[in-house]
Amino acid sequence: MTRIDTSVDVMLRVNGSARRLRLDTRVTLLDALRDELDLTGTKQGCDQGACGACTVLLDGKRVLSCLTLTAQCDGRDVTTIEGLAPDGRLHPVQEAFIRHDGFQCGYCTTGQIMSAVALLQEGRAGSDEEIREFMSGNLCRCGAYPNIVAAIRDVAGRGTE
Ligand code: FES
Ligand code: FES
Repeated sequence: MTRIDTSVDVMLRVNGSARRLRLDTRVTLLDALRDELDLTGTKQGCDQGACGACTVLLDGKRVLSCLTLTAQCDGRDVTTIEGLAPDGRLHPVQEAFIRHDGFQCGYCTTGQIMSAVALLQEGRAGSDEEIREFMSGNLCRCGAYPNIVAAIRDVAGRGTE
């Protein structure tokens, strides 16, 4: 039986650096980040688009990397949690999560933070209700929601996003 080669060449700009990959067209962005590029800060939760743990930014907009094919990202900018603190200095949202105890086990936290960064850039942090609404795609089994909202409100109030 003849095997059809379904691999493609893809160039991503990940956290500001060009990364060239050759991979199967069916490989998700989540798997490419974790397995090919060793960027394991992005977490795999449900792998079905339901939990938000795998949230990253694609051209500055949040996407679920478990539902995004890497081949769709050719030539585009990907930002992961590792890209928020490139020089080792924490992003204001990361600092706020620590200040407000916005996590317990931490499994959902990178997705929460990436979503929060995008939400602040989108100007969606006008009230606690708005923050809850626009963070509703990011689930937290530990129930850290009140502290996550407090952390985001804090950054929005400081105007440091
Ligand atoms: S792992 Fe992507 S939404 Fe849950
Ligand atoms: S901190 Fe444990 S799932 Fe959110």
